[in-house]
Amino acid sequence: MIPIKSPCEIEAMRQAGAILAAALQEVAGAVQAGVYTRDLDQKAEEALRMRGALPAFKGYRGYPSTLCISVNEEVVHGIPGARMLREGDLVSLDLGAVVDRYFADSTVTVPVGEVKPALRELLRVGQEAMMAGIAMARTGNHLGDISAAIQFEAERHHFSVVREFVGHGIGRALHEEPQVPNFGQPGTGVVLKEGMVLAIEPMVNLGNAQVEILRNGWTVVTSDRRPSVHFEHTVLITAQDPEILTEWR
Ligand code: CO
Repeated sequence: MIPIKSPCEIEAMRQAGAILAAALQEVAGAVQAGVYTRDLDQKAEEALRMRGALPAFKGYRGYPSTLCISVNEEVVHGIPGARMLREGDLVSLDLGAVVDRYFADSTVTVPVGEVKPALRELLRVGQEAMMAGIAMARTGNHLGDISAAIQFEAERHHFSVVREFVGHGIGRALHEEPQVPNFGQPGTGVVLKEGMVLAIEPMVNLGNAQVEILRNGWTVVTSDRRPSVHFEHTVLITAQDPEILTEWR
């Protein structure tokens, strides 16, 4: 069963989304050459706590940090640490927040200084693929319409989408039903209804779609070690347009 949020729950999720967006924006603004990933993690935790939110990922299935920071060929679940960012890197910042027991989840990938044109295009298409999916998050559409729109947008630019990791429902838990794949067929899957909240989060690779997990048990990398980007918003389905709860303001 996919939870339908009550007006009161939606208000709580708006709060969580707004706080998360402000915190993530602050962390993204601190990305520059010479910065250590563990310092961004600390900044993220402070940015959440300062606004009355708690980190959603720390302790989740034993995950050690507030942020997931995935650089270049790292796709998702990179662990912050002693790595120093360098000019030309692509850095994905994945952050989750809990406010009043409600969750929000969002990711942005940003360049460090000047990056190669091919990487700028990968960033643009990753963001556009997420937005194409969000545009389909409407009452009466099928879940597969979101998935297919994301896949189409990525593949028409000759990039690929990761299959092993998917978006998800979100609310009283970080991961609720349904799973939201970043590939699929239009007109398939459940019918979307007002009050559903989905984390829509494509991972788009420059090379092929294959990924593997490093020996630390967390970090997912592309098998061809070519770069990957990740974008994510928490989105409310309404009677009108989708409402991006984690939108930057
Ligand atoms: Co997520």
